Parts: sequence; C-alpha cells; structure tokens
Amino acid sequence: MTTQKHFPHINDKMFAENVALSNIARQVGTPFYCYSNTAICQNYKDYQQAFSATLVDQETLICYAVKANGNQAVLSTLAKLGSGADVVSEGEIRRARTAGIPANKIVYSGVAKIESEIEYALSEGIFQFNVESEPELELISQVATRLKTVAAIAFRINPDVCANTHAKISTGKSENKFGVPISKARLAYNRAASLPNIKVQGVDVHIGSQLTQLAPFEEAYKRIALLVSDLREDGHDISVVDIGGGLGITYSDEHIPSKQEYATIAKAQLGHLNCKIIIEPGRSLLGNAGVLVSSVVFVKTGEERQFLILDVGMNDLIRPSMYEAHHDILAVDKTNTELKTYDVVGPVCETGDTFAKARQVNESKSGDLIAIMSCGAYGAVMASTYNTRMLAPEVMVKENDFAVVRQRPTYEEVINADSVPNWI
Ligand code: LLP
Repeated sequence: MTTQKHFPHINDKMFAENVALSNIARQVGTPFYCYSNTAICQNYKDYQQAFSATLVDQETLICYAVKANGNQAVLSTLAKLGSGADVVSEGEIRRARTAGIPANKIVYSGVAKIESEIEYALSEGIFQFNVESEPELELISQVATRLKTVAAIAFRINPDVCANTHAKISTGKSENKFGVPISKARLAYNRAASLPNIKVQGVDVHIGSQLTQLAPFEEAYKRIALLVSDLREDGHDISVVDIGGGLGITYSDEHIPSKQEYATIAKAQLGHLNCKIIIEPGRSLLGNAGVLVSSVVFVKTGEERQFLILDVGMNDLIRPSMYEAHHDILAVDKTNTELKTYDVVGPVCETGDTFAKARQVNESKSGDLIAIMSCGAYGAVMASTYNTRMLAPEVMVKENDFAVVRQRPTYEEVINADSVPNWI
C-alpha cells in the first residue's frame, strides 16, 4: 500500500489533510486531482534538510523539476520555500518565473532548445543551460553573442549507466538520446571554452526517473567526479555539479532509499570536488502529495470479469497505459468492507484505457468515489482532451482549507479554440 499519510482514511472515509474528499467532490465534481500542500512542503523540507545537513561544506540548491507538476499553486508553494526550478521549455521558464522562482535559480535542460527559447532564457538571466549536444552549444553561443550577453553552461553528460527503471524513463544509457557521451566530454568542453559568450561552469547528469536503488546514482556520480578532475586538468573552472532528478516513490511496495541515504551517496562521490550541488527532484516532491478522485459510472459484469468503469480515463492519467505503471486504487468510502476483484477501466474508446486488472477494491456501486493514488507527479501535466473530455480540475488542500487551483474548462472554451477557414 502507498504511504500517503496526508490522505488518510478516518472512520472509513478518505480525507485530504482535514478535508473529506467527498466534500470536495460535491463542490467540484469528478474527476479531479487533489494535492496536499503540507505533503509538498514536507517533502521539500526533507530534501533540504538531508542535503544541507550532509553536504555541510557545500552550497546546495534544489531545482524542482517543473515537468512533474507545473501548476502555479505548486510552484508558488515551492518558490516560497526557496526552491529553484529545472525547466525544459520556454513555457516552463514562464511558469516558474510567474510563480516567483528567481531566474538565478533556474537550470534549463532538454535536447531540443530552439533559438527563441534560448533567447528568452538569456533575457531572463537563468543560472545555467544544461547543454545536450555540440550543435546546441553553438546555437547558444550565437544567440548569446547577438544579445551581447554570456550563457553559463554545463554539459549534460551521458555516463552510460543503467538506471534499472522502465525503459521509457531511462535516460543515461549510451543508446538514449540524452546528453553528451562521457567519452566525448573533454572534447566538448574544449570546444565550449573556445566559443564566444559561453561561460563553462558545470557538469550535469540525469540517468532516469523512478529509481528505487542508489547504486546507479553512485556509479554515475563516480564517473562524473572523475570527469570533473579531468576537466579541471584541462583548465576548465568547474564549480557546479547538477546531479539530476530525485529518488523514486512508493507506488505499491517499492522500498525507496531515504533522502538522507541519497545525500550521503552524493557527498561520498562528489563532496571532495568542492562544487555547488544542484538536485532536480520532481516525482519525489509531488508524486505522493496527490491523488486523482473519480466516480464509478457503472459496475459491469462481463463474461469472466467485473469491470469498475470510472469517469476518469487514460486522457486524465496516462501512466498505466504508457508505462504499465501501478497505482493503488482505493474506495474513498470504505464502510462496505467486502473486497471485490475488478478490472478498473475508464471511458475512453481504447482497450489501453485500463488502470488495473484483477484489482481488489472495496465493493463499489455506481456513484461511489474512487481514489487513484500517487498521482501528484506526471498526472495532470500529461493529461489531454482526447475523446473531447475536459481536463480534470486541480484542487489543493492545506489543513482545513481547499481551493480549486485549475478550473475544469468549459465545452465552449475547448470547442471555440478551433476555427473553420472561410474556404470550407
Ligand atoms: N531532471 C531531468 C533532466 C529530467 O529529465 C527529469 C525527469 C527530472 C529531473 C525529474 O526526475 P524525477 O525526480 O521526477 O525522477 N512521465 C514519466 C517520468 C518522466 C521523467 C522525465 N524526466 C512518468 O510518469 O513516470
């Protein structure tokens, strides 16, 4: 079972902090995403505590990976705690800046930054470009020269380390599109040092997401530390090491190392370099700080199975169909203690619109509320309007209060975004 302590069942009814989910459902309708502000703050503080207490002699900066959940309420919460941002598009820079994250705490990753995005990032004065290729480096140099400014860069290094995670979210193997191969790194840094308006300042690595073991991090950081020594020998002034995304989370029964253990690995491998350490966690700050609440539309008895058909679909949460991801599925009201085995599915016209097969859930009927757990990260941000289903609203709870932090769009808004040319 997931450990989402801010979504407890109290007297068999599920709450988000002190607010009954059934109360939110009555006011907002289903489906909706629900985030616990307290959980987000706690997760952030745990990272901060673990890294600042362990890497005592070094400056550390948490740059929240905006892609995990870019809602303004989430970003503002983290901005107030002092977080920076790891972004991958101009849109994410704008989101981070709008929420009050200072430009000098923004690192910009991604394999295909285009000219206008680079220009925008430079005009904002971001802290660092995490450069993923030499052509990108050249483009950044050209844009910075044209704007008469200097771009601070790190190369994202592909260390060729297996992250032991799902193939679709593994990024640090040589066959992945990400980063500069570690074997070519010294050449790339020399090239960078020769280009105008480029300041070489760091090294970056990110080997994948939903890592449940420390060994791959340890191996990657070991390789990065050796590289930093080589680069310094080559005359580069390396003062920043960006160690990429954070730990995985418990979706079902995964044992996840503690943030303290993660920080200890970072210190052991990188502490002697005397660099500023940046970490870019996304999932571990938000994942278990959110749930997706839906209603049962029908319970349908098939030839061999019982289907629990929800009003939430793969368009709202794509992770099960895209990564075969497990999410716990819980009745919001557990008064009826009898467990039934269901295939839990959505309304979208695809067989892949399945959240779980042969899953035990408290016996449910049409109209009952069902919570899909661990949905705070890579949930709402990956949603679409496929099947012309409206994006689910997002709600944030803090203690006794809740607020809708993104409204459900109206049908008019969605349909009127299209236009018909007059030659039809
Ligand atoms: N930094 C970079 C450069 C990244 O590409 C990512 C995630 C992160 C940081 C944050 O990693 P985290 O701390 O969240 O593990 N949609 C997938 C996950 C994709 C992750 C992409 N990159 C999913 O739903 O599992």
